[in-house]
Amino acid sequence: MATAGSARITALCDVYNLRLLVFLFCNCHGAKAKMNSENFSISEKIVSASYIRQGLQARRSHEQLIRLLLEQGKCPEEGWSESTVELFLNELAVMDSNNFLGNCGVGEREGRVASSLVARRHYRLIHGIGRSGDIAAIQPKAAGSSLLNKLTNSVVLDVLRMAGVRSTSSCFVVPMATGMSLTLCFLTLRHRRPKARYIIWPRIDQKSCFKAMVTAGFEPVVVENLLEGDELRTDLEAVERKIQELGAESVLCVHSTTSCFAPRVPDRLEELSVMCAKYDIPHIVNNAYGVQSSKCMHLIQQGARAGRIDAFVQSLDKNFMVPVGGAIIAGFSEPFIQEISRMYPGRASASPSLDVLITLLTLGANGYKKLLKERKEMYTHLAKEVRKLAEGHGERLLNTTHNPISLAMSLDSLEVRNPDAVTQLGSMMFTRQVSGARVVPLGGEQVIGGHTFRGFMSHSESYPCPYLNVASAIGITHGDVALCMRRLDKCLRSLRKGVGPEEAGPEDTCTEPSLVE
Ligand SMILES: *Cc1c(COP(=O)(O)O)cnc(C)c1O
Ligand SMILES: *[C@@H]1O[C@H](CO)[C@@H](O)[C@H](O)[C@H]1NC(C)=O
Ligand SMILES: *[C@@H]1O[C@H](CO)[C@@H](O)[C@H](O)[C@H]1NC(C)=O
Repeated sequence: MATAGSARITALCDVYNLRLLVFLFCNCHGAKAKMNSENFSISEKIVSASYIRQGLQARRSHEQLIRLLLEQGKCPEEGWSESTVELFLNELAVMDSNNFLGNCGVGEREGRVASSLVARRHYRLIHGIGRSGDIAAIQPKAAGSSLLNKLTNSVVLDVLRMAGVRSTSSCFVVPMATGMSLTLCFLTLRHRRPKARYIIWPRIDQKSCFKAMVTAGFEPVVVENLLEGDELRTDLEAVERKIQELGAESVLCVHSTTSCFAPRVPDRLEELSVMCAKYDIPHIVNNAYGVQSSKCMHLIQQGARAGRIDAFVQSLDKNFMVPVGGAIIAGFSEPFIQEISRMYPGRASASPSLDVLITLLTLGANGYKKLLKERKEMYTHLAKEVRKLAEGHGERLLNTTHNPISLAMSLDSLEVRNPDAVTQLGSMMFTRQVSGARVVPLGGEQVIGGHTFRGFMSHSESYPCPYLNVASAIGITHGDVALCMRRLDKCLRSLRKGVGPEEAGPEDTCTEPSLVE
């Protein structure tokens, strides 16, 4: 961990970088404003002066918002209108050399785009982000794209802090999904720990995060979870035993997880962080869809305060409602986060940064907080509905109160009556267009990267019952819940009658007239 002093200095450097760009921007902008006022006085000869003045003021109010963003680098409280966002993006784009009116390019990468549809899809920001050596570096050919990159990282940092990890010191958007971003973190640690071969990983049955370790060239050491009531929780003693058995310096890091499918619950982050500090082992947290939950974010904040967390990684699409393609790597030591960004070879796509910046400017801090609040309320509603449904079918809602997003409903009595029913339920839900509901039968087995997972999907070698998962993720609506419960109820009823998906009568198949409720 860096000292507070050096972290502050590097933080200042970054602010200074941003200031430089603000200066650059405002200079162009100043020149432009002058040009505009000339044009405005010409315009006054064409259209009545008072109308023109009003138009000028209207334009200024957009510009005020843009100036505030440039000065503070924070997510605006209130969301911007689309016209402000588009004005801003166009102003960024005209600062990139591919849009210079007098530009002649004789290099091998000149921001030429054959299709104007493609150019518009990217707001004519064609240069991507970074330079050959560093994804965070400023690109001299592209002041606008560089500004976009710096601003996005700064706004995203503000939002991570607002969402609960107050002491995050630095972060950056990477145009790779969560698994590959975790790989980048592990590869960065490799230089710091040349003797390390193993990554200690409390088991979570999700393939990308397992493959992230294998792809980076490390051997995952899978630590099975403990069954406590219905919940699967971190076995802290087993983690510590593994550290002692392998020797701290042959361990690259502990790789823990917050957001996960019930009945697994978020790892005991505080205790793991303290253990990592004690043995001087790095700690990387997979926070895939945890930004949307204040509980997951609080765990990270507490872990960093009490012990050691080197980086935490989260998905852009799962937390910010943008297309798949990006992640945020964040941490508490600026030099380490910079080291990760310097590991990225070459330039990168700016699309994920652009998407998340547009989204956050449009939502504003208040809009995002509202989505988080609604999600939390929908979790309570969904839990109530699943409990009601479960009890009506002789099942129960598993008691997994430590999981703030995902819920599980037992499928015990269904299986007792008909052993094939559990897998049938999965395919019935699928044909009824219920996406995301996940049926977990007992006894699955899967080999991934040479490791055999018994009881695959259930995070455990022998979970006591089969179950069904649903999640209250950001953006879920009352309509989603109502429709899912209706369809699930129908499926369960027809399975109890012993009717499989193929034989089901017309009233049992998907006959909802539309998805709109
Ligand atoms: C989504 C997710 C990942 C990463 O998957 P990607 O496809 O790489 O984004 C990793 N772990 C968990 C728990 C996830 O939910
Ligand atoms: C504004 O005025 C300048 C001359 O001062 C002119 O060259 C330019 O084309 C005008 N721009 C716009 C957008 O009208
Ligand atoms: C659920 O489990 C928690 C402990 O994790 C316990 O305190 C609570 O009483 C349980 N609730 C029910 C309804 O069993």
